Amino acid sequence: MFPVSHFNQTTTPFYYYDKTVLNNTLAKLTRLAGERDYHIHYAVKANANPAILRLIAASGVGADCVSGGEIKAALEAGFPAKKIVFAGVGKADWEIEYALDNKIFCFNVESAEELAVIEELAKKKESIASIALRVNPNIDAHTHEYITTGLTENKFGIPVEMLDGVFSQIQNYPHIQLIGLHFHIGSQILNMEAFAALCKRINRLQDELSKQNIQVKHINVGGGLGVDYDDPDKNPIPDFESYFNVFQHNLNLRGGQQLHFELGRSIVCQCGSLITKVLYVKKSLTKQFVIVDAGMTDLIRPALYQAYHRIENITSDMEKRLYDVVGPICESSDCFGKDVMLNATQRGDLIAIRSAGAYGEIMASQYNCRALPRHLIE
Ligand code: LLP
Repeated sequence: MFPVSHFNQTTTPFYYYDKTVLNNTLAKLTRLAGERDYHIHYAVKANANPAILRLIAASGVGADCVSGGEIKAALEAGFPAKKIVFAGVGKADWEIEYALDNKIFCFNVESAEELAVIEELAKKKESIASIALRVNPNIDAHTHEYITTGLTENKFGIPVEMLDGVFSQIQNYPHIQLIGLHFHIGSQILNMEAFAALCKRINRLQDELSKQNIQVKHINVGGGLGVDYDDPDKNPIPDFESYFNVFQHNLNLRGGQQLHFELGRSIVCQCGSLITKVLYVKKSLTKQFVIVDAGMTDLIRPALYQAYHRIENITSDMEKRLYDVVGPICESSDCFGKDVMLNATQRGDLIAIRSAGAYGEIMASQYNCRALPRHLIE
């Protein structure tokens, strides 16, 4: 399935992006969202490769950005400003000003302190900032502790108990317009119960708010839909249908309310693989190491989160053997997989590390003075 004959022209390691997978994913996503009148914002943090961003922007979805740099990249790729949301616990003044100047759709505000700064900067510019309050729903997404975000102990969002104070604060801020509530419970979530729990939490909160005559136009439930890392060929497109159905069946939207999503991983993960060349097959006393030219600098997820990625030798059809697949970086954690079954492997073979389209290329670093990975989009 990989166009291996083209791969000799690109220097390894590189990210290979399969346009067909991405476009099929986008087509299904936009069709299912369109049928329900749901609004999608692509979480740029998952992959900001300019060519990938352009393809996603062309599908008509909006963008979810977490920095001024991401807003700039999104605008350059063709996402309209009126479909950009801007989140993050630490927005710098210049980033807020840049977002105001570009008249983005909405700031997802994470604290009372941030709200005060947005009011001050909007006042200076004599403009009005549209904002959603990011509520910390205190829901355990049962995913990796580093990518759970909706618990009280996490730094994200405003605890429900503190919302009343923030609502009164907004009364005194003429340059702030409250248009929404925002939630996000975590990432790589495959258990739909977690999203159902979020819906119920939002329903309770909206009931309480309606007693105070507070109703917002937009509900943003963040992202987090997981993908199949075990079998990307069987499930190249995540189950958007079941995911949307959870919201359709469990969330009580009030009259005229619009529902927004910020999906990252589920859009780009399966279209990308990291392609790397085997430098050595090193025999040690107890095992064999396949040493490849990609390292944790190119794909940090296994080292950082003990994340599993399927690994395949795409140039050998020999009988399978057991290897540890490791990179060249001077860290023991620079390991892509232990006890991996690969077709018998030799120096010069090409290895594909699958499901690497999300949080792969964008998290690359230059540790050990290495070059950043290249890419090939076909
Ligand atoms: N919205 C907010 C507020 C977020 O914090 C995130 C991801 C998303 C949306 C998009 O979530 P997604 O649909 O991609 O799950 N580097 C980690 C993942 C970090 C996710 C951070 N927030 C990884 O490689 O697994």
